[in-house]
Amino acid sequence: MTDGLDRFSLAGRVALVNGGGGGLGSAIAEAFAAAGASVAVAGRSREPLEAVAARARAVGSEALAVTADVTLEDDAERLVGEVVEHFGRVDIVVNAVGGGAGKALHAAHEYPREAWDWIMELNLRSTIVPTQPAVRAMIAAGTQGVVLNISSVRANLGINAGYSAYVAAKGAISALTRQWATEWARYGIRCNAIMPTFVDTPQIASLLADPDFKAGIVGRIPLGRVGETSDIAGPAIFLCSDAAAFITGHVLAIDGGLTATQ
Ligand SMILES: NC(=O)c1ccc[n+]([C@@H]2O[C@H](COP(=O)([O-])OP(=O)(O)OC[C@H]3O[C@@H](n4cnc5c(N)ncnc54)[C@H](OP(=O)(O)O)[C@@H]3O)[C@@H](O)[C@H]2O)c1
Repeated sequence: MTDGLDRFSLAGRVALVNGGGGGLGSAIAEAFAAAGASVAVAGRSREPLEAVAARARAVGSEALAVTADVTLEDDAERLVGEVVEHFGRVDIVVNAVGGGAGKALHAAHEYPREAWDWIMELNLRSTIVPTQPAVRAMIAAGTQGVVLNISSVRANLGINAGYSAYVAAKGAISALTRQWATEWARYGIRCNAIMPTFVDTPQIASLLADPDFKAGIVGRIPLGRVGETSDIAGPAIFLCSDAAAFITGHVLAIDGGLTATQ
């Protein structure tokens, strides 16, 4: 590897991937492991986390699976404590818990409170709650760390499909990304986000199974397809690596050109 490419390596970094057992989180955790990072993956169900940790170890990474509900302050505090105790530090936090839009489709003028609260909890609180103790640990240790949030093109684009709470949550995540970048720059902590369009993951399989819905989506994406998890991994590595040392507060579209057309 040349000196220039060394800046893309995550060797020696400790990454906490919240939602690391999920579609995007597992792809990111495994890609980080391949890029040299030690990884901790967190979620509520142990089995998928252990599977991801095993695959990370298979490429030579040190990996830890921690069960936690990251919308709960006590769980998030314990999670970060376990990561710091195990690895001695935390350098990178990826917030890959979220989604649910397809299971909470309601007309904007009738959007029910219960569904609204659930989507906000799943997407927004799950981003805020585990990031706070992780960033406190970074600040206390003088670690010039990185936070990577997962927003969505829905932060910027409406969709005629009952997505009110989801677009509001993702819009808030994009705004928080800029706010956190601004506040934490003084500590040398960077914060960016990615905003994918539809990525072929189990969570959206039922939406993409509807040929009319899929044709409508793909028809508006200039590159003519939905995303694959492999499309997410490279940009995530880049934004969390020293190659992106001067990038903070940025929300990167990973969307086959969708937002470029709007
Ligand atoms: N897939 C897409 O097309 C797409 C497009 C744009 C943006 N995104 C965003 O990308 C992120 C990941 O999506 P995905 O498709 O990878 O979803 P996913 O497969 O459902 O993964 C989400 C993970 O979060 C975990 N989780 C949920 N609630 C949790 C909680 N309270 N505490 C801890 N872990 C929790 C889940 O595991 P447990 O249930 O075991 O906890 C699951 O493994 C979301 O923010 C989503 O909005 C996805």
